[in-house]
Amino acid sequence: IDHDATGAARSFLADDDLSSAEQRAVLELAATLKADRHARTPYAGPRSVAIIFDKPTLRTQVSFTTAVAELGGYPLMVDGALAQIGRRESVSDVARVLGRQVSAIVWRTFHQSDLEAMAADSGVPVVNALTDDYHPCQGLADLLTIAEHTGGLSASGPALAGRVLAYVGDGSNNMAHSYLLAGALAGMDVHLGCPEGYGPRPDVIARAQRIAAETGAAIGVHADPRHAVVGADAVATDTWVSMGQEAESGEREGVFLPYQLDQDLLDLADPAAVVLHCLPAYRGKEITAEVLDGPRAVVWDEAENRLHAQKAVLTFLAEHRREP
Ligand code: NVA
Repeated sequence: IDHDATGAARSFLADDDLSSAEQRAVLELAATLKADRHARTPYAGPRSVAIIFDKPTLRTQVSFTTAVAELGGYPLMVDGALAQIGRRESVSDVARVLGRQVSAIVWRTFHQSDLEAMAADSGVPVVNALTDDYHPCQGLADLLTIAEHTGGLSASGPALAGRVLAYVGDGSNNMAHSYLLAGALAGMDVHLGCPEGYGPRPDVIARAQRIAAETGAAIGVHADPRHAVVGADAVATDTWVSMGQEAESGEREGVFLPYQLDQDLLDLADPAAVVLHCLPAYRGKEITAEVLDGPRAVVWDEAENRLHAQKAVLTFLAEHRREP
């Protein structure tokens, strides 16, 4: 590993750990890697990447494992239930052990602060594979998918300048936060439709607004989901009950029902709009079967694009260290 390299490792803990220009470069690289799956092999050797899950997974485990293998590395699955990071030993101690052996760490866990501690003490790039707060790899995959279906990346400047992204449902979850930050970095207008009490964290809105002011984007948070969706180029939703919130599922279903993405709501978007869902999807809850299985949905492309986007992120982090 890069003990001899100068500069500190860079990590991808939240969407806005990349600048707008870097996000664009990562998306360009993702498109290149999609066209030629073996174009870059930064882990050839092989070097190991630890991949750890403290919450359920399907897409993220498969796509990161495949990504590291295709980048020439060895994807080392660490069983979160056995490792018990933060319980059996501190995050900081685990970080120092892993950092002596692997080239990067991919971690899905609950608290963003634990991920930050891992990045601070491991000395190697750490990638957020979903926390309670953000799902930035999904954010990149979704931007790539939107680009593919709405005319490609912008000729210059922010990746998707001028396009409009709507998200309806739980505005307080990881996907909502990632859409705000990733969309603003891409120069997109981002409109959320969410019930009162389930809006984004104020500090995330403030960060998205600061980014939007620089990229020429706009941020809107609406109580009426129709106000969020009208005219959108891409319409996204997500489960009403995120991993770890199972005990709240009864009360959440009542609150979120008016925010279901059905055909009537989708009809307010641009006629060519695409529908995104990070999956798993619950038909009849946050999205109707008619919409999820209908002609505007691009969710299978979106799931595939996890692979390409994550290959690009891992490559970017392997090749970019912070100046000392
Ligand atoms: N908000 C969801 C995303 C699942 C990929 C959750 O955290 O469970």
